Amino acid sequence: MDGLKQGYRLSQAENPKDLPAQFFQVNSHLGRLLQNHVRFPTPSNYFKMILIQSKNLKNVVIALLEKAGSQAEEADTVASHLVRANLCGHDSHGVGMLPLYMKKLGEGLLNPNQKPELLKEDGSILMFEGNRGYGQSVGKQAMEQALELCKTKGLVLMTLRNSYHMGRIGTFGEQSIDAGMVSLHFVNVTDHPPLVAPYRGSDARFATNPACIAMPGTAKQPPILLDMATSRIALGKVRVALNKGEELPADWLIDHRGQPSRDPRVMESHIYHRSGKESPPGALTPAGDYKGYGLALFCELLGGMLSGGFTIQPENERKGGITNNMITFIVDPSRLLEIPAMHHEIEAMVNYVKASPPADPENPILIAGDPERISLREREKDGIPVDDNTWNQILDAGENLGLDRENLLNISGI
Ligand SMILES: NC(=O)c1ccc[n+]([C@@H]2O[C@H](COP(=O)([O-])OP(=O)(O)OC[C@H]3O[C@@H](n4cnc5c(N)ncnc54)[C@H](O)[C@@H]3O)[C@@H](O)[C@H]2O)c1
Repeated sequence: MDGLKQGYRLSQAENPKDLPAQFFQVNSHLGRLLQNHVRFPTPSNYFKMILIQSKNLKNVVIALLEKAGSQAEEADTVASHLVRANLCGHDSHGVGMLPLYMKKLGEGLLNPNQKPELLKEDGSILMFEGNRGYGQSVGKQAMEQALELCKTKGLVLMTLRNSYHMGRIGTFGEQSIDAGMVSLHFVNVTDHPPLVAPYRGSDARFATNPACIAMPGTAKQPPILLDMATSRIALGKVRVALNKGEELPADWLIDHRGQPSRDPRVMESHIYHRSGKESPPGALTPAGDYKGYGLALFCELLGGMLSGGFTIQPENERKGGITNNMITFIVDPSRLLEIPAMHHEIEAMVNYVKASPPADPENPILIAGDPERISLREREKDGIPVDDNTWNQILDAGENLGLDRENLLNISGI
């Protein structure tokens, strides 16, 4: 296995800055977060990373999805979305989701080959039902229709309810950007026990409810894409830390008694969809205290309630899937101002922001979307690092579907 990289025992590093650069390269995004925020607590084990070229990884994902019943176009859309999430540094929403998707297909909570069902078209409003289809696919198709309508209307409100997990919401923002539109997306998560505590709370009442705002770039300034969980960390990033045996920074988690914890195992029953009887679940904390908490509530009321998918409150049934409901506002900026004026203002504003002298010269000012672009460049060149727990879970899921493990390894090129 040429691509195998040996991990590092974190306890050897008193300070994350003492860790070999390779550690951060193999998981650049989470690595950067940890480097910026943590003096390392006691780590629990070693991890290994496997580097896989994005094209090969996509082919592995396609093989599993097609074997699990997806037609070629859907398999391609879902695989492209997942691999792009990894390329962008969001391993939490990348190929590591696949074993769970395969499990949920088996339970009938995820349905392959769904098209978004148009429930209502009323002026510039489009409402869709996702019928538990792969969110990456029904979401893409719903966005295509909304973007098309926006060309004539200038402003579109699109809702998509009851889609299975939509993955990285930024992908839909990128669809708008590619069409020259500005978009806002608010998403909630239902059918699932809550994961995130309200500000001042001691147990979970929300999921990680993502919000995203996308704006096209100019000749000089790449697009601006704010795409974030409203929790301090996405659950998938806790899964990545759990799979690697890493602890998380203080204040990111609370245990089942509501006490701060650094141990990703407090979320284990959620991550592996266990009953929680042996290890009662803790919760994630909201991003930015009451501000992220306020946004999470509006993801419920906008993305959940107004789409008709409804909220996570317990009167609404929870079958144990991951249902995303999304509300999207799309604006054609050319209806509001001249595009050259917009481009001038974007560049002038970003330059003004970036001209602030960095507090730490080693950490320059970034604009939302920059970390993903940096990761994309690195990972397209070097390959995508997949920790060996995640990789084995993917291979096991393939074997369970009847695929040959050796063949999957051949496809992966490692
Ligand atoms: N489908 C779902 O149910 C669901 C739920 C939660 C999260 N998600 C997805 O998870 C992914 C990860 O979310 P996250 O909150 O962990 O992301 P994150 O914290 O890594 O980044 C959030 C945003 O901040 C920006 N950013 C990061 N560092 C920055 C810096 N130094 N300066 C300026 N901007 C910076 C990023 O470009 C990004 O737009 C997202 O793609 C989100 O859509 C999906």
